Amino acid sequence: MLTSIKSKLAAKICHVFELNKKDLQDLLEIPKNLQHGDLALPVFFLAKTLKKAPAMIASEYSNKIKTLQFKEIREVTALSGYINFKMSWEVLSGELLQSLSEPARLGYSNIGEGKTLVIDFSSPNVAKKMSVGHLRATVIGQCIYNLAKSQSYKVIGLNHLGDWGTQFGKLAWAMDNWSGEYAKDEDPMKVLTELYVRFHEEAEKLPELEKQGAAYFKRLEEGDSHVSELWKKIVEISMSNYNEMWKLLGVKHDLVLGESFYNDKLKSTEQLLEKKNILEESEGAMVVKLEGDRPPCLIRKADGASLYATRDLASAIYRREVLKADLNLYVVGQDQTLHFQQIFEVLKKMGYEWAEDCHHISFGMYRFKDMGRMSTRKGNVIHLEDVLNKAISSIKKVIEEKNPNLKDKDLVARQVGVGAVIFNDLVNDRTKNVDFDWERVLSFEGDSGPYVQYVAVRCKSILRKFNKKLPKCFSVELNSSEEHELIVRLLSFDEVLSLAFKNFKPHFLANYLLDLCRAFNQFYHKCRIIDQEQSLAESRAKLVEMTEAVLSQGLSILNIQCPDEM
Ligand code: ARG
Repeated sequence: MLTSIKSKLAAKICHVFELNKKDLQDLLEIPKNLQHGDLALPVFFLAKTLKKAPAMIASEYSNKIKTLQFKEIREVTALSGYINFKMSWEVLSGELLQSLSEPARLGYSNIGEGKTLVIDFSSPNVAKKMSVGHLRATVIGQCIYNLAKSQSYKVIGLNHLGDWGTQFGKLAWAMDNWSGEYAKDEDPMKVLTELYVRFHEEAEKLPELEKQGAAYFKRLEEGDSHVSELWKKIVEISMSNYNEMWKLLGVKHDLVLGESFYNDKLKSTEQLLEKKNILEESEGAMVVKLEGDRPPCLIRKADGASLYATRDLASAIYRREVLKADLNLYVVGQDQTLHFQQIFEVLKKMGYEWAEDCHHISFGMYRFKDMGRMSTRKGNVIHLEDVLNKAISSIKKVIEEKNPNLKDKDLVARQVGVGAVIFNDLVNDRTKNVDFDWERVLSFEGDSGPYVQYVAVRCKSILRKFNKKLPKCFSVELNSSEEHELIVRLLSFDEVLSLAFKNFKPHFLANYLLDLCRAFNQFYHKCRIIDQEQSLAESRAKLVEMTEAVLSQGLSILNIQCPDEM
């Protein structure tokens, strides 16, 4: 795709600039205005050595390149400090055909081959339903997972389930003492949450309860079979609720290693800290002091209990030493920034150079613009479950109105409804807050998931109407400006995937798909496909084929399913 075109162009012209091919290739960029060219070379880097204005340099060098008459380059022009290149139809169409020959790896790169990437995502805390806040940790995580696969990493998706800590002693106690009061057919997840809330309310009046909870957690840590049974039940109930959500969102973890998994590794982690001489006592607790004004990292409380941070240290070491992570990513909200800074710094102090390869992929929060009737408020938590169900039922209504004879209506409503929610999240730079506005989320026009799905479905339907096998090659050259822009956009898919992965930012991909849809629509309105002379019709249909392939691949990397009809 584009990377290969850049490489071809760089090979031809690098000697003109007395640069090696790789350096020149890295300078090439996509022009802001695709009418100017397929690729652009900024020449500002030469201004100092040549002591000339960039515009002058661009015009001199472009003339030089013109005289060399490379058959791969159709046109060279100089424009204010840039040299713009239009590549020949042979180069462009050759790349299109090449990419279509292996659709499963469309846009893929080999950059991560032989390397392992561990990604911790979604990772909810048991006993509570996932909130809409978990949506971000889930969909951003799954998308980066998919992006890493597209770069040929071996990827391990990890659920660092929050299943350990004093709160589960409290909950186990509450289950033991109060669960008999709830009806047998009550939603077990709801009962858990109620028990949890009730414990906290009653403990305020009766501080004695706190001690009971702590005693239960101690028993749990010591492996007491009764409390362990209660705890297992809590985890089971929660996981079955989460599994429903993950199934709806098409999310899969490769491993569930909850915080409890590290219970028997905490001693040795502490010993390591001791051996490195960085563990200190502070008011009865054990801490690692950090540089600057960062608060110390708490390793063990005065009462002997371990902490979230202790388990994260053990887990980071496990990911590196057992899972062999070359890259270790944590997709967690920005409210935990300090926590991860502390963890990574402690790892550095322990002498682990690989601490550099641990990254907190943080994200902003949801803001609900219009709470209106559409969003269910429970306390002040909006449950993910409710958001997804609302989206699905709204789309179902639209289908019933506009296309009541559609096949598999429920499936399509799920694909479009869930896709809309995912897209609305991923289209934003993850570091920013997300505005949630139902009307925009579910819109079939504009910057929404349904819009992208709709264009993909249109492509599929054109190809169905075409109704015969397309030839392997283009029989005519497509050179209108709409066709050309669409081609160049299609070919830049590989660079978009690589950019989105390098920055761990799915919004590059989501926004690219919107641009691609716009380019396709312009092409579609200008260039007739059916009822044309056969060779032209077939060649245009090949562009539709490629658009469909890129949209499908792009959506699937965003983890959005695309219906065949809608
Ligand atoms: N369970 C935590 C939460 O819901 C997120 C865990 C993130 N992963 C980690 N290794 N700390 O806030």
